[in-house]
Amino acid sequence: MFNEVPDRYDLINALMTFRLDQMWRRKAAAECLQGHPVNILDLCTGTGDLALMLTERAGRDTRVTALDFSQPMLDVAGRKARQRQASRQLQFILGDAGRLPFPDEAFDVIGIAFAFRNLTFRNPHTATYLAETRRVLKSGGKFVIVETSQPRSAVLRRFFHGYLAAVVAPLGWLVSGHRGAYRYLAWSMRHFYAPDELTALLAGQGFRHIVSRPLLGGVAALHVAFK
Ligand SMILES: C[S@@+](CC[C@H](N)C(=O)[O-])C[C@H]1O[C@@H](n2cnc3c(N)ncnc32)[C@H](O)[C@@H]1O
Repeated sequence: MFNEVPDRYDLINALMTFRLDQMWRRKAAAECLQGHPVNILDLCTGTGDLALMLTERAGRDTRVTALDFSQPMLDVAGRKARQRQASRQLQFILGDAGRLPFPDEAFDVIGIAFAFRNLTFRNPHTATYLAETRRVLKSGGKFVIVETSQPRSAVLRRFFHGYLAAVVAPLGWLVSGHRGAYRYLAWSMRHFYAPDELTALLAGQGFRHIVSRPLLGGVAALHVAFK
């Protein structure tokens, strides 16, 4: 699915969220960089925005690795990195979240932006993805997730779900030309986990001290968990 939309992916995100997606990624980046970690993984980096924010804000001794299984998405990420003259501290890797090509405990921090839903929502490989993520995270290391969520307020939730159906799905179709990808996006966002369900999922896979912070009334959320 992601191989079909890379060139318009950033534009559609910006249109759908009024650029809030970038503000939310910046919050995730700030959370990832607390305590000056040395090795950070941007899991499912896509077109690389979180990885680039991390690289641009990190100290010189921080290394950022960004992994995705879609070469077309990584091609866009690589172009952006070259345009922005991102430093050699950033490395892109083609790989699957279900079989991460890293040794145990390789990373101090793992961040994931708007892809946790892809890995875990009604996905039969959820347990494998989370076990792999946990395996490559150091003991005591931090897992930072920024993802769409469910507003607590019933009124806001109804408005949000209406917006998904009336704006997100048709707009994504119109701009990308791929109806299926954006129908899936709207559907999965509508049914995705509320923060307490996501917390239970992470706890069930061995993550601890899980905290969720709603963004824009819970339309999105920043979740932090530790190994
Ligand atoms: C919605 S995009 C998010 C991209 C980016 N993190 C962002 O902030 O926009 C989801 C990304 O996850 C990647 N992805 C999905 N499943 C994956 C897997 N099993 N292994 C690696 N990447 C995966 C897709 O290729 C896609 O680039």
